[in-house]
Amino acid sequence: MASPLILVNLKAYLEGMGEGAARIAAAAEEVGAESGVTIAVAPAPTDLQPLSARFNLPLYAQHIDGVSAGAHTGHVTAEQVRAAGATGTLINHSERRLTLAGIEASVAAARRSDLRTVICTNNEATTAAAAALAPDYVAIEPPELIGTGVSVSKADPGIIERSVAAAQGVNPGMRVLTGAGISTGECVRIALELGTDGVLLASGVVKAKDPAAVLRDLVSQI
Ligand code: G3P
Repeated sequence: MASPLILVNLKAYLEGMGEGAARIAAAAEEVGAESGVTIAVAPAPTDLQPLSARFNLPLYAQHIDGVSAGAHTGHVTAEQVRAAGATGTLINHSERRLTLAGIEASVAAARRSDLRTVICTNNEATTAAAAALAPDYVAIEPPELIGTGVSVSKADPGIIERSVAAAQGVNPGMRVLTGAGISTGECVRIALELGTDGVLLASGVVKAKDPAAVLRDLVSQI
């Protein structure tokens, strides 16, 4: 079985930009190497190139627009993030909502640039819709738990189970991540037991005093 994926979204946190992003990437690379678990980081677009120049861990963009290279102003394109060192991208998020047509266009743009795709969703119905677009992963995150420190694995395990069933009902074998409030190895273990292939998290690592210690705990029960 492929390694579970621990994907750390640095969002627009001050602690997760510039040297803060480098500190977290260094921790993720170190813990990934010692544990054998795939740990990836999704920094701001301005940090992709600096991180890819210094580290070897997988980098994801936080967003791409569904346009090709050319006459577009103020867009983030798949070509740009690929050239900056990303090997994947988040698409859609409760903090960056897209239309269904926009999500489909971003998935198509990512595929043209050979980027892995993680479509973030907020409930079972949107998870099923996302799975129909055949991304590499769908990531179910109940918006009311995001950034609260209250773990979806413990507060709402039912939504994880129902989302895995919804995704795989539409697209057998669809890989599912979950997120919101994840911060410990126990949260990760429960998420995996409920049928996911990993977790998407942010504040538990980004705002930690010692991100490497949190990452070590996250992989400790896999
Ligand atoms: O994309 C990850 C996310 O929205 C979860 O955030 O801070 O609850 O881990 P957090």
